[in-house]
Amino acid sequence: FAEGIRKKVDARVNKHLYKSEDVVTNRFTVFPSDPPLVLCRCWESKKFPLCDGAHRAHNERNKDNIGPAIISASNK
Ligand code: FES
Repeated sequence: FAEGIRKKVDARVNKHLYKSEDVVTNRFTVFPSDPPLVLCRCWESKKFPLCDGAHRAHNERNKDNIGPAIISASNK
């Protein structure tokens, strides 16, 4: 990120998922024949860690622009 764009955020991002874990991590292995993985970055998906579109409501509520991370083994 360019300096000046990134701002420190002190608010808790993860409000309700896996709260008993010290750190939430997810590991995936992607093969060329697999469909792209669409991963949630807003922490509000009911299918977490997969995106279910909940970021749209988050963005509307918070005037934000968060979207999923899309991971694929090839350029599909
Ligand atoms: Fe969280 Fe889509 S639901 S990024």
